Amino acid sequence: MADRLKNKVAVVFGAGCTQAGVSNGAAAAIAYAREGAKVVIVDVETGAARRTVEMILEEGGNAADFTADVTSRTQVQAAIDGAMATFGRLDILHNNVGINKPGGPVEMDEAVWDAVMATNIKSLFLTCKAAIPAMQKGGGGSIVNISSITSIAWHGRPTIAYSSSKAAVNHFTRVLAAQYGPDNIRCNAIVAGTIDTPRASSQLQRVIRADAAEIRNRRSEAVPLRRLGTPWELANAAVFLASDEASYVSGVVMAVDGGLTCTMSH
Ligand SMILES: NC(=O)c1ccc[n+]([C@@H]2O[C@H](COP(=O)([O-])OP(=O)(O)OC[C@H]3O[C@@H](n4cnc5c(N)ncnc54)[C@H](O)[C@@H]3O)[C@@H](O)[C@H]2O)c1
Repeated sequence: MADRLKNKVAVVFGAGCTQAGVSNGAAAAIAYAREGAKVVIVDVETGAARRTVEMILEEGGNAADFTADVTSRTQVQAAIDGAMATFGRLDILHNNVGINKPGGPVEMDEAVWDAVMATNIKSLFLTCKAAIPAMQKGGGGSIVNISSITSIAWHGRPTIAYSSSKAAVNHFTRVLAAQYGPDNIRCNAIVAGTIDTPRASSQLQRVIRADAAEIRNRRSEAVPLRRLGTPWELANAAVFLASDEASYVSGVVMAVDGGLTCTMSH
């Protein structure tokens, strides 16, 4: 256990751990706890949230869990209120929840567009609405939003709602950084490249109907570093952005993608 986040309280939305393994949100939450933060795990899946808390407690960290759907204003507010009641302050808000659905505007149902937008971008509006007043009370904070390379460039398949919502995440990040800088609140986004998470490979398997090894090889070949990223590599970047080491870093949209965006036409 190190102490880069000692005395800080982090709330991570979408930090649950599924049976299949540790995903991006859970890795970030565990990494925050390893650096001494008290971590509030929020997820729509109660069991998944509990699993991440247990992993943190087993390592000697400090964590609590709340069940909330990020598209519900009242549930998000209750999670932030719960975090404040449990740990007394809020320094780090980490927005990890994101869903992806295939299709362009012609073939995608309107309801699917609405669901992706609500989950991927309205959720940030709701978590910030609830969390920023608590951060202001504590003298500042750091917000870390998880974006995607699809926010910047075409990535080979139409995912109109996902790509647009993640582009909105990038600009939401900049606007927030500008507005709340005077309150000592920093806001940054991580543009995740192709990360080897349990959900990403099973989702791709369904879309392109290839086996997991073939998908991994195909995706790795496209990356300058010739491999997929891990949730822990995203988490390392999040720890830096959340910590005082990044005290003069705000409004940045930072790629953690093995160089992939350098090869994509913008
Ligand atoms: N895996 C990749 O290759 C990749 C690439 C680019 C960006 N990303 C981004 O990383 C983030 C997380 O990806 P992941 O692979 O860890 O996802 P994941 O789906 O494995 O984990 C997200 C967690 O969020 C929870 N969740 C889903 N909907 C929710 C809701 N409405 N309210 C509260 N919790 C909810 C899920 O239960 C799950 O525990 C997303 O924002 C995604 O867009 C992933």
